[in-house]
Amino acid sequence: MLKKSLNEFYKNVFNEIGNGWPILTAGDNKIGYNSMTVSWGGLGVLWGKNVAYVFVRKSRHTYQFIENSDSVTLSFLSDKYKNEKSIYGSKSGRDVNKFELTGLHPTFDLDFNGYYIAECDYVLKMKKLYSVDIPYDKLPADLKNKFYPTDDMHTMYVCEIKQYLVNEE
Ligand SMILES: Cc1cc2nc3c(=O)[nH]c(=O)nc-3n(C[C@H](O)[C@H](O)[C@H](O)COP(=O)(O)O)c2cc1C
Repeated sequence: MLKKSLNEFYKNVFNEIGNGWPILTAGDNKIGYNSMTVSWGGLGVLWGKNVAYVFVRKSRHTYQFIENSDSVTLSFLSDKYKNEKSIYGSKSGRDVNKFELTGLHPTFDLDFNGYYIAECDYVLKMKKLYSVDIPYDKLPADLKNKFYPTDDMHTMYVCEIKQYLVNEE
């Protein structure tokens, strides 16, 4: 994996996140880790830092890992792994070992103290900066009805991007 500057990030964020389905991995060597597919989120700048925003519902097994660890990664895999990405987005780490099921490999980064997916084209290694529960009361009625029929709300996590690594193999 080659370290790159975010100044060299020329990708279409809408496509990469909305259609590319990155795999979010949260956790560290103390609490363990879990991975799930995401397609909501963004990349941008906040408080003078390069950040990613991700949205995780409280019901996800990943939720407890992102709550209890600062290490978060977004691994972007090519569409040759679409089936695997579907599995990370439909099975829960509570019930199955998604790494065994898919054959994808978690890679531990010692300095960073976090995990990402070895098969990715590129990864954003991040530290959690801030989180806030999406306030139900402030949502427009149509979004309340469509996305929040129960109290399983999303928490928004703002994560500072510490490293952009590209798989050049
Ligand atoms: C394409 C796709 C995108 C998804 N995006 C999100 C998301 O942004 N936030 C979220 O909370 N769940 C999202 N999910 C659902 C989780 O990935 C799914 O519930 C997963 O099984 C959770 O795994 P876990 O219980 O091991 O954490 C998405 C699922 C798919 C298939």
